[in-house]
Amino acid sequence: MKRYFVHTFGCQMNVNESLRMGEALATIGYRPTPTAEQADLIILNTCAIREKAEDKMLSALGRYRAIKTQRGALLAVGGCVAQQEKGKLLARVPYLDFVFGPDAIGKLPELVTRVVEDRVRVAETAWVDSEEYVFPRADPGSSAGKVSEFVTVMKGCDNVCSFCVVPHTRGREVSRPFVEVLQEVASLTTVGVREVTLIGQNVNSYRGGISFAELLLRLAQVPGIERVRFTTSHPHDLSDALIDAFRQEPRIAPHFHLPVQSGSDDVLRRMKRDYTVAQYLERLAALRAARPGIAVTTDIIVGFPGETEEDFQRTLTLTEQVRYENQFSFVFSARPRTVAAVKETEWGPVPHEVKVERLERLQAIQRRISGEIGAALVGHEVEVLVEGPSRSHPSRRFGRTPENRTVNFDGTAPAGARARVGITHGSPSALLGVEAGLVDLPPVPPLRPRNEAA
Ligand code: SAH
Ligand code: SF4
Ligand code: F3S
Repeated sequence: MKRYFVHTFGCQMNVNESLRMGEALATIGYRPTPTAEQADLIILNTCAIREKAEDKMLSALGRYRAIKTQRGALLAVGGCVAQQEKGKLLARVPYLDFVFGPDAIGKLPELVTRVVEDRVRVAETAWVDSEEYVFPRADPGSSAGKVSEFVTVMKGCDNVCSFCVVPHTRGREVSRPFVEVLQEVASLTTVGVREVTLIGQNVNSYRGGISFAELLLRLAQVPGIERVRFTTSHPHDLSDALIDAFRQEPRIAPHFHLPVQSGSDDVLRRMKRDYTVAQYLERLAALRAARPGIAVTTDIIVGFPGETEEDFQRTLTLTEQVRYENQFSFVFSARPRTVAAVKETEWGPVPHEVKVERLERLQAIQRRISGEIGAALVGHEVEVLVEGPSRSHPSRRFGRTPENRTVNFDGTAPAGARARVGITHGSPSALLGVEAGLVDLPPVPPLRPRNEAA
């Protein structure tokens, strides 16, 4: 029996695709192993979003090289760096056996067989940019034991944000037909999944036969599903229909990740984000009116070329004004072939120390706001979908609120149950509490359609 090990970098798309790689490898007799040291095939599923992500891949490759030499294991690179570098990566890293892009996951069995039998080094990085693309179907077995799972609804991105490498690594947008999405979600409920997060680089421009709002509404009706989430969304696609879906359907969880990137219109224009701060705030206000209490999170880039102290101050002001639940903030990193990298000198590069100092100021403000939001929940009861034992304190239980707040609590509620938890402590990153009772226990399959009498 052969064994594989996948090291995953980057976003949820990659996490999900690593599972699909495992399923493809199982068809040629490969089984997973928890450590690279025991593997016959080591795959790095890579991310190219920032330079740091690429550096991490290079240092990991160095470590795995030793295992390759000792065991004669195969070493491969998949994901976004593979797609970006293609065959060049084979030339740059002479001990690499093969390279494959995100669209070649289905061909993995064939690739491995070719590499083993013909002793060739290959790069498979063709794109399938059309509706002919077949999304790898998840095997629900890969999700056994999970309460919450990710489901791919689209790939690629048709936007042209000037800083972003994703359109170069993932190609054009292709939506997955809605029937396939519904079938996959229904199959996940058979192993106990009660919450799904739809993923794609730009999910609300979904066009898989029905609108994205309609897709959410239909998924909320799948028996066994209690919460539907999605990530990530571009503000210009936040339609009235989507806002209405939040008003109508409580199973669409009250959390919205809406990356703003900057609080300055000048910076947004150079980023080619095609909205102004005022338009962003208008959409957010409509969303908050439709679902009071909805948690909003965002992504921000600081030190974008030409960003002045005044521009940055506007990002701080926006952060205070929106009172984000949380934000993922990064210093700008020039990426190959992007407009911002080409124009950086013309627009005015921001010195590294300034970028880092701005990032720290922004993060300090966000930490304070997140802490205040957490502290305000002390003494309140929240509903937690229990995922299992807490990672930090294995004697405690762990789960999330509908707003996607993480909660560690003392109690006995089993994974898959919804528990009522009284909050005793709130920090910027997690809540602590005590179980006060159960809302329900996990359902036992087979599940009946919602409209059928029990
Ligand atoms: N599709 C998502 C973004 C995915 S990338 C969206 O449009 O919101 C996740 C985040 O990484 C981005 O929101 C952005 O904040 C950050 N990012 C992307 N390119 C970057 C770069 N070149 N430098 C720094 N941060 C970057
Ligand atoms: Fe990148 Fe913009 Fe597409 Fe997001 S919407 S993946 S930031 S190009
Ligand atoms: Fe990274 Fe590719 Fe995701 S660049 S963020 S792994 S789409």
